[in-house]
Amino acid sequence: MTTSHRVGVIAGDGIGPDVVAEALKVVDAAGVDLDTVAYDLGARRYLATGEVLPDAVLEELRGLDAVLLGAVGSPEVPPGVLERGLLLRLRFELDLYVNLRPSFAPPRIDLVVVRENTEGVYAGEGGVLRRGGPHEVATQGSVNTRMGVERCVRYAFELAATRPRRHLTLVHKTNVLTFAGDLWQRTVDDVAGEHPEVGTAYCHVDAACIHLVERPERFDVVVTDNLFGDILTDLAGAVAGGIGVAASANLNPAGTGPSLFEPVHGSAPDLVGTGRANPVAAVRSAAMMLEFLGEVDAAARIDKALSDSGQLTGSTVEIGDAIAERV
Ligand code: IPM
Ligand code: MN
Repeated sequence: MTTSHRVGVIAGDGIGPDVVAEALKVVDAAGVDLDTVAYDLGARRYLATGEVLPDAVLEELRGLDAVLLGAVGSPEVPPGVLERGLLLRLRFELDLYVNLRPSFAPPRIDLVVVRENTEGVYAGEGGVLRRGGPHEVATQGSVNTRMGVERCVRYAFELAATRPRRHLTLVHKTNVLTFAGDLWQRTVDDVAGEHPEVGTAYCHVDAACIHLVERPERFDVVVTDNLFGDILTDLAGAVAGGIGVAASANLNPAGTGPSLFEPVHGSAPDLVGTGRANPVAAVRSAAMMLEFLGEVDAAARIDKALSDSGQLTGSTVEIGDAIAERV
């Protein structure tokens, strides 16, 4: 007997609905009975109605246990509309302050990036003056608060303490971003004092890119700001089997609202209708969701089915079936 969890499903656009269908199939095979509510959000709705995230929908989402999102976006929607208006608005409004992105590819890669998810350049600070003219000015500042940095760093230390290697690396650019970098480094140093069991290291973001490619085994838990985390996790996905297998959890660890789970990849309009979209990232994201909902056994069975499956080939549906059979 499992208690039913109320999960909002934003399948979205492009390959989103295809990969979400496989993820839900695998959850079902794992014996978890979700009470799902479908939400029509994304490019399709925006192009049809002009709506991105109506307030009433946001209020409904707040009452759920979790949200599973496939992908949103389309070349017909101008940049920023869905990113800022839907994805980032959800992250900010639901206070999803940790973006957890694991990369796993034995024997050399077993790391988790803890990306700060509500601040940095994503906060939207700045503006534009004299747009289009020869004296145009655009600024886009990075917002770093002690509270925002500390809660993210604290989460990262707590996570590191549960992992066999108990190691945490701060990735930043303290040699150039001296104001924000100093805040991050001091926060890590302070919280490290509460976690003598966790070893720490620091790495500039450019060097971290080299290490991810050449020496990924040096990383266990990586904590970093929003933009560095965005870039680093695409690279981590690429070196650990491709973006088609990279999962993420946007967490509200305080539990003041639902957390949101989504593959790192986008809507991939070029893959629509080809049956070639890889559902593994969505399946892994759904497993992270189950774990967060307390369905630890089911999540572990899905993870095991994924690792037992090895390199999966075939169509989106065939891969989903193969994982579901092994669960
Ligand atoms: C991601 C995406 C988003 C981000 C975009 C689509 C807003 O790239 O989840 O990594 O930059 O965070
Ligand atoms: Mn990204």
